[in-house]
Amino acid sequence: MKTKILEINPKRIDLAQIKIAAEEIKKGNLVAFPTETVYGLGADVLNEKAVAKIFQVKGRPFNDPLIVHIADEKELNRLSKHVPPVALKLAKAFWPGPLTLVLKKSELVSGIVTADLNTVAVRMPANNIALSLIREAKTPIAAPSANLFGRTSPTIAQHVADDLGGKIEMIIDGGKTKVGVESTVLDTTTRPVQVLRTGGISLEKLQKVIGQVKISKELEEGFRSPGMLNSHYSPQARLILVEEKGESQVEEVRQLASEYKAQGFKVGIMAKEENKDKYKGFEVKVIGKGSELNICATNLFSILRSFDKERFEIIIAEGLEEQGLGLAIMERLRKAAAPK
Ligand code: TXA
Ligand code: MG
Repeated sequence: MKTKILEINPKRIDLAQIKIAAEEIKKGNLVAFPTETVYGLGADVLNEKAVAKIFQVKGRPFNDPLIVHIADEKELNRLSKHVPPVALKLAKAFWPGPLTLVLKKSELVSGIVTADLNTVAVRMPANNIALSLIREAKTPIAAPSANLFGRTSPTIAQHVADDLGGKIEMIIDGGKTKVGVESTVLDTTTRPVQVLRTGGISLEKLQKVIGQVKISKELEEGFRSPGMLNSHYSPQARLILVEEKGESQVEEVRQLASEYKAQGFKVGIMAKEENKDKYKGFEVKVIGKGSELNICATNLFSILRSFDKERFEIIIAEGLEEQGLGLAIMERLRKAAAPK
């Protein structure tokens, strides 16, 4: 199959182009499209065969449920049989935006979408290309991140082409995604509600709107002991994460990098802007200033992919502060560092 690439300027959307992509969705084909977080691999949520193709082309196990993307809040009541007030409050506060709400599912949603759970994950993306595509396709769109299973999520169309080129009908190229990490996934069926995956909406922002927010037990354990996390978001290189702790972080990174280099490995360092000059003699890629975590988030996945493209064998990554988007970045780095 030849994958068609459709370039669309997100600032001046050409509806005729969107309609071409929407036709593919209607026909039961797969279209990768930009959202504000990462690129998604979309299919008509009501077409089970199309949804099955998502799992096939990604190599994703069927027990990992998909997020359903909507362009109109009213769709919530079609997809879910019970939308609790807290979910509505969160939707009002953060949609369109990088927050996914897990709700009791309705009969409309097939078990293939939800991995046979009785819940469904829903979000309204803050990206005009995505929203127009959903509107023109006249159906909610089921979409995981548009990468091969276990790899880092795509933040530019080329990342999608690298992973899925030749396997899907179409990629809409809408430029670099704004947020750079995936949406926050929040289970609204439990009390208190709980975060299942950190992401584009920070814990602090959620707390401001609804007060108490729990971190799910699994995530919590993963933060305390990265060994508990499944390897995910993995670069092909081995990633070693050195936690943020001021000057001694730099010392530790330097020491690890020297050791691996001495053993003959091709070693790269992912560093904060303010530390980049402290690694003379090593290959360094800069994620951003430690104080600008939003910018760091937009660079994270691109940097991990570029280490792979250049065939680095070991990546020593400086950890960041765990506040705001730093928490989402650290969850991903811990998963990337988990044993394969
Ligand atoms: O930002 C994003 O969320 C991107 C863009 C494309 O929207 N999508 C994305 O999808 O990251 P994916 O499939 O890579 O991650 C979806 C996450 C998985 O961790 C999955 O387990 C969780 O959402 N999820 C989906 N449905 C769920 C459900 N019913 N209950 C609990 N978790 C669910
Ligand atoms: Mg994913």
